[in-house]
Amino acid sequence: MTEILPANTENIATAGRTLRAGKLVAFPTETVYGLGGNALDDHAVAAIYEAKNRPDFNPLIVHLPNLETAAQFVHVNEAASLLAQRFWPGPLTFILPRVKDCKLSLLLSAGLDTVAVRVPHHPVAQALLMDCGFPLAGPSANPSGRISPTRAEHVVEGLAGKVEYVIDGGPCQVGVESTVLDLTGEQPALLRPGAVLADEIAAVLGVNVLTAQIAQDEGARKSPGQLSSHYAPRLPVRLNATRTEPGEVLLGFGPAAPADAQNLSASGDLTEAAANLFAFLRMADQAVYRGIAIMAIPETGLGIAINDRLRRAAAPR
Ligand code: TXA
Ligand code: MG
Repeated sequence: MTEILPANTENIATAGRTLRAGKLVAFPTETVYGLGGNALDDHAVAAIYEAKNRPDFNPLIVHLPNLETAAQFVHVNEAASLLAQRFWPGPLTFILPRVKDCKLSLLLSAGLDTVAVRVPHHPVAQALLMDCGFPLAGPSANPSGRISPTRAEHVVEGLAGKVEYVIDGGPCQVGVESTVLDLTGEQPALLRPGAVLADEIAAVLGVNVLTAQIAQDEGARKSPGQLSSHYAPRLPVRLNATRTEPGEVLLGFGPAAPADAQNLSASGDLTEAAANLFAFLRMADQAVYRGIAIMAIPETGLGIAINDRLRRAAAPR
């Protein structure tokens, strides 16, 4: 049985005890809900792969309370340190080399000599990291290949019975997963667009960032989670729609959307659209429809991350 617990001090302590006993707890972050387990414990990490049915070549993100803790496990280079000062805690993940004798489970690196690390901003994630006393492996709390959860109920929809508790922190503010930045090469490379933009990263570092298009082949190899079909609803997805075909439900964007559309943001606000995206895709993904049509979203700011997820949702399976 999976139980949803409201986020309060007592329940965070319960979650901490559960994690220390080697079990799994889903927790809110500012991006999406994570499926947490002790990142130092191979058994807990194996349980995460099992619960998600995640291929074992796809490495997991590790959540840490702060940069100092991260430095115990990965080599924090100059670029990482500059970016952390500006964007941590927050929705930015770095790929960095493991330190010698790194205590993180080898399994979570899936055979690579690097780790994805992130310091989340969400107060519940922070409180849980402080309480449990170890880094938390925490991929998005959904079955592999499916839509990421932005509410506690979404976690239960996908993972009921496979996780002890879901700490309910309400809807996630950002709504799309963190920006993933590879800092192990000569040039920083964007492996997954998110709320921290490539332009903002380039501005802090004063160098160009290889972006998704350029780094795509490289990215697909280096970040195995970035397969073309991902975030897949059950129904077929049609992009750049202007109106519905028979049987379709329409996800709209902006003031020009038809009145019958489920509007991601009636005012055309990309932040609001990102926060609504996964919940709306789930609502639309119902057997009463034959397909999901989605209006064009501008390819700027958070629209870059939204369109990345939509292309994967629409990709051939
Ligand atoms: O916002 C987020 O990042 C959420 C919340 C819960 O923190 N987590 C998340 O985790 O989206 P996940 O596992 O669903 O996505 C992590 C991505 C995957 O595409 C994975 O392949 C990539 O990061 N990744 C993890 N470790 C890596 C590594 N060592 N090298 C390259 N890519 C890595
Ligand atoms: Mg995921």
